[in-house]
Amino acid sequence: MMHSDNWALKAKQLGYRSRAVFKLEEILKKTRTKRYKNVLDLGASPGAWSQFIVKKNSNANVYALDILDMEPIEGVSFFKKNIEQINNIPQILKLKGDFNLVISDIAPNLSGIKSVDNENIFDLNKLTVNIALNFLCKGGTLIMKTFQNSFLKTLRKDMELSFKIVQTYKPVASKKQSGEIYLYGVK
Ligand SMILES: C[S@@+](CC[C@H](N)C(=O)[O-])C[C@H]1O[C@@H](n2cnc3c(N)ncnc32)[C@H](O)[C@@H]1O
Repeated sequence: MMHSDNWALKAKQLGYRSRAVFKLEEILKKTRTKRYKNVLDLGASPGAWSQFIVKKNSNANVYALDILDMEPIEGVSFFKKNIEQINNIPQILKLKGDFNLVISDIAPNLSGIKSVDNENIFDLNKLTVNIALNFLCKGGTLIMKTFQNSFLKTLRKDMELSFKIVQTYKPVASKKQSGEIYLYGVK
């Protein structure tokens, strides 16, 4: 198993802005998710996932959102917005129902109070699932970060009501102690 610093080094050597790229790479590979044209990247900054998508598929149109700034990436349209504001972005709205892939690596700011943090994560995840259902085409894919907490089962069950396939992934590049885990769904 590679040490986390080595993932960071490998990312740097390959020109990626964050080690998070290897998590997306593994999930896309394991789920054989290949064909995507319109991609929505939620919580995109600093931008490694967006970089990966345009590198692997130069025809992809990536629309990326974050509350923080993001350095420009060719082929990526960036909006400095909270995902709650997605319906106020006309460029994205006009593609409603035409996205093949929605990826979310959102991690909310933690308060340190577990119950509050877990609820915040759950709310953001529910919003993300809703966005995916509204913006994905039929057969489109959602990959979303969440955390192993008391809401995980409920979240997965909720997704199973509206997605044809739902799976859970813990990529090798994800730190064990982080508690993060990724939900994958096909609409
Ligand atoms: C782990 S980072 C994403 C890393 C990214 N996948 C990459 O490869 O570079 C999580 C991001 O989610 C963003 N975020 C948190 N809450 C958000 C919200 N409500 N709307 C948009 N972005 C949000 C944070 O600002 C942060 O940049």
